[in-house]
Amino acid sequence: MRHTIRFYVGDECHTLAHTPPTRTLLDWLREEQGRTGTKEGCNEGDCGACTVLVVRLEGDRLVWRAVNACIQFVCMLDGAQVLTIEDIRAPDGTLHPVQQAMVDHHGSQCGFCTPGFVMSMVAGRKAAGLAQDERGIDDMLAGNLCRCTGYAPIVRAMRHAMEAGPDHFDAMAQDMAARLERLRDGATVEISGPTGSLSIPATVDGLAATMQEHPDARIVAGATDVGLWVTKGLRVLPHVVSIGQIPELRRIEHRPDGLYVGAAVTWQEARAALADVLPQPDEEVFRRIGSVQVRNAGTVCGNIANGSPIGDGPPVLIAAGARLHLRRGDVRRSMALEDFFIDYGKQDRAPDEFVEGVTIPVPGPDTAIRAWKVSKRFDQDISAILGAFSLTLAPDGRIADIRIAFGGMAATPRRASHTEAAMRGRIWDEPTLEAARAAMAMDFAPISDMRASDWYRRTVAANLLTRLYADCGPEGARAPISVQAACTGRGEHAHG
Ligand SMILES: Cc1cc2nc3c(=O)[nH]c(=O)nc-3n(C[C@H](O)[C@H](O)[C@H](O)COP(=O)(O)OP(=O)(O)OC[C@H]3O[C@@H](n4cnc5c(N)ncnc54)[C@H](O)[C@@H]3O)c2cc1C
Ligand code: FES
Ligand code: FES
Repeated sequence: MRHTIRFYVGDECHTLAHTPPTRTLLDWLREEQGRTGTKEGCNEGDCGACTVLVVRLEGDRLVWRAVNACIQFVCMLDGAQVLTIEDIRAPDGTLHPVQQAMVDHHGSQCGFCTPGFVMSMVAGRKAAGLAQDERGIDDMLAGNLCRCTGYAPIVRAMRHAMEAGPDHFDAMAQDMAARLERLRDGATVEISGPTGSLSIPATVDGLAATMQEHPDARIVAGATDVGLWVTKGLRVLPHVVSIGQIPELRRIEHRPDGLYVGAAVTWQEARAALADVLPQPDEEVFRRIGSVQVRNAGTVCGNIANGSPIGDGPPVLIAAGARLHLRRGDVRRSMALEDFFIDYGKQDRAPDEFVEGVTIPVPGPDTAIRAWKVSKRFDQDISAILGAFSLTLAPDGRIADIRIAFGGMAATPRRASHTEAAMRGRIWDEPTLEAARAAMAMDFAPISDMRASDWYRRTVAANLLTRLYADCGPEGARAPISVQAACTGRGEHAHG
């Protein structure tokens, strides 16, 4: 048992015994370390001005990730190295290849956004495959907002920075790996003080015991939801249980019943495996969850456990037939993912119970899985509506099975059971499509909020069925997209 957290900032090791459990990394860096190059823009994970790099030893290799310091808690850094803009220049004063490229290609802008852009670009050079092409560079920079000028010189600088040779971090990698190895003691961390309590269990059994002992404690995985409760909601969390580094929860495994994703696996880590099982949803939805910084911290299971009616993961995973695994003490149970969501803000989870992982079945050759996220912006936006479909066609053109789930249409992510019933067993043709569009009125009566009106939601939801038909219908099917509201019934309300 350890009663401190330990991590590096640059090449200096810090040991903290009395940090409040929800002290943000950004505040700590700026207020206690004087590292004011890391800026505060939005303080809610949107703008990227606070981007820092978190370097971890995984197996025997260093892994570099850009994250938003404003919604990381300091306690989550145990065992890691943090690099800020102050660390990017080489020790002899030479500019990093990214900094040099920003100078050469006129990418440097104001002092608020530029440090964050540079940090994302340094991380992008380290993350294999992230910035290989123009689209990759766009994805990589989607979490860094400039609200006044242009991205073109920055993208140009990134292209050139990718071609530059190794940097001084490569030369120091072995030394840093050895230092991080020395921090790996496999100990459980417990810190209690007047500012709150922190537990970092070393194992999943330890987590189960901690939750039984402290059912009121708040589990924190990536803190991309919880962080905002603190920075924007000013909530005080007296006891935080940080689970992000528990080895058993970091598993991604192909099992006989499908792809298993453990509770501490982030969206970015899961994406390659998810893309193998659900290629279209990965491209259309998972790629667009937040930004690289958000996906590097936020977990797939945190997205589920959070229970938001507009979380992007649940509708897709429900349509795909996912099962959720929970644990309470020594007792484990599994359920169809849709059964987890009881009502707005209410999930089927006891206070001392936690999500251990989720299993996503691999679709058979006759099953097409499609999902569409509809939001005001392509990147970094929360869905107004998300429709997800799993369609299995029999050789005779009948719909052998259909699973449909929507986000943004009700108080929880929810299946469209009347719509499914109108389709199952029928030939997949235009009359079936029309019957399905009409049946949707019985499934949903969404609310109007700042993201969309109820009319828009109903119309788009029905049109996503038409899109499914256009995408996966009889060859050449191209049914027109209607602008008429298809559902007019009343039922439960969605909460934005
Ligand atoms: C800028 C920004 C953009 C975003 N964009 C999107 C988006 O496009 N789409 C989207 O769906 N979401 C988005 N989010 C929300 C968020 O990133 C996701 O919901 C993310 O997957 C949450 O995971 P996390 O690990 O950070 O959860 P946390 O914040 O750590 O936890 C969330 C909740 O789940 C609970 N919890 C976490 N893990 C467990 C567990 N194992 N067992 C029990 N309870 C648990 C926590 O106690 C908390 O109540 C965005 C967030 C930000 C800040
Ligand atoms: S300050 Fe905007 S993302 Fe952190
Ligand atoms: S926010 Fe920095 S130049 Fe626009």
